[in-house]
Amino acid sequence: MTLRISVIGIGYLGAVHAASMAELGHEVIGLDVDRDRVAALQAGHAPFHEPGFDELLQRGLDSGRLRFTSDYAELADADVHFLGLGTPQLADGMGADLGHLRSAIASLTEVLPARGGAPTLVVGKSTVPAGTSRELAATLEQVDGARLMWNPEFLREGFAVQDTLVPDRLVYGVPSGDEQDERVAMLDAVYAPILERGVTRLVMGYEAAELVKASANAFLATKISFINAVAEMCEATGADVTDVSRALGMDDRIGAKFLRAGLGFGGGCLPKDIRAFLASAEDHGVGDALGFLREVDAVNGRRRTRMVALAEETLGGLEGRRITVLGAAFKPDSDDVRDSPALEVASRLRAAGARVTVTDPEALRTAQRRIPGLCTVPDTQDALRDAELVLLLTEWREYRDLDPVATADLVASPRIIDGRAVLDPQAWREAGWEFRALGRPDSEAPEAPQNPGSSEGPVSSDEAITPGRVLSPSGVRVPA
Ligand SMILES: NC(=O)c1ccc[n+]([C@@H]2O[C@H](COP(=O)([O-])OP(=O)(O)OC[C@H]3O[C@@H](n4cnc5c(N)ncnc54)[C@H](O)[C@@H]3O)[C@@H](O)[C@H]2O)c1
Repeated sequence: MTLRISVIGIGYLGAVHAASMAELGHEVIGLDVDRDRVAALQAGHAPFHEPGFDELLQRGLDSGRLRFTSDYAELADADVHFLGLGTPQLADGMGADLGHLRSAIASLTEVLPARGGAPTLVVGKSTVPAGTSRELAATLEQVDGARLMWNPEFLREGFAVQDTLVPDRLVYGVPSGDEQDERVAMLDAVYAPILERGVTRLVMGYEAAELVKASANAFLATKISFINAVAEMCEATGADVTDVSRALGMDDRIGAKFLRAGLGFGGGCLPKDIRAFLASAEDHGVGDALGFLREVDAVNGRRRTRMVALAEETLGGLEGRRITVLGAAFKPDSDDVRDSPALEVASRLRAAGARVTVTDPEALRTAQRRIPGLCTVPDTQDALRDAELVLLLTEWREYRDLDPVATADLVASPRIIDGRAVLDPQAWREAGWEFRALGRPDSEAPEAPQNPGSSEGPVSSDEAITPGRVLSPSGVRVPA
């Protein structure tokens, strides 16, 4: 059955969702207040890098089933409206800013009465604190025929198309959690081709649906910070975190995914979502229950600090030193630089006086927009030329595959820090590189530290390679 669908907010989530709904055979209109974004999408230009999205967008436009607008009045015909609005961190707190969602609901309720009470389903996809759906429904459902449900989105940037069309599961939140709720059948009709492929859908109450998403992201962030906390222990004891994580991941109960130590998580979701989850728990009087998320966040932040300190130790100072940063996106296969660990490290090195060159296969445009004046070089070889230190901060395939021998010829001094634990230390050392990495020892056969963690006070860069006894010049305790 072909349905008329709108998607309100056509960012990473919404644009992919709109094009995917057209792919399923529906007539789709995507709306955004950002007119440039609307014009780009209407012209077939993806406003971000997402594998497979350009083709999906073009197919939708060519079919005549997909179009874009900035005018809410054009949504009046749609039977189903998806909400893909951003829920960023509040400027003055840790909670989620629901302003975009509230504003979109207000604009939508102005056009819905034109439907004369015909059944209209509004489906929230944004990540929101528990209680948001019920609050928004109270406003929206004052319009005759309008009903709200919450259907959180679990897509991963870099796999967004695949995750939208073949999700692991579909979660439907309705007020009472009742499978017989009329909204369930309406959304089933939208997702019919997906459900026919055997994808499981779970119906539950509004708050449970909201909490599934918040918990999923909190769990993933916790798993990453857990292994990064272990990496700190590895740095203090001379162990190699990749040995630990490989063995841990073979335990079925634990699993290997999200267990790679490195520079930690970033992006437009995990950091703000764990903070919003914690803020929401505090609002509900159970802040203690999720208090550990504060530590998850702190461990994550410390990896960035540690990387800056390690660069400083390796060079014996940052002022005027030429550093090439491989990667700007918060993860490979994306051009998203929101809360990007790589970009934050680059920015902190610049602030400390280093001459930083950043390269990335896709994210230089977004990086420039975020940090005007950032020195960016698109070609990897050019970016590496004359570097005194190379930092691998986003694990794009192209950087994982770098040839240490050929790369050594490009740089001024063969020194590299692997921030993502993806390079083979032996191969790089054999090619003459000073190789360091987060969570890995500075030599192949580290001596057991004599007195781990006991040193106080600044030490020279020579001393800095002794595991477990380094205090960086910035005063941050950084076991080597
Ligand atoms: N990006 C992801 O990987 C991902 C994955 C799962 C869930 N989510 C969640 O989905 C939501 C959207 O995330 P995103 O990354 O797509 O955000 P985004 O910032 O890329 O997109 C949001 C869009 O909404 C538009 N907008 C703002 N106010 C509007 C209004 N009143 N009317 C119409 N459009 C408006 C903005 O211009 C922007 O284009 C967030 O809650 C996020 O946490 C994102």
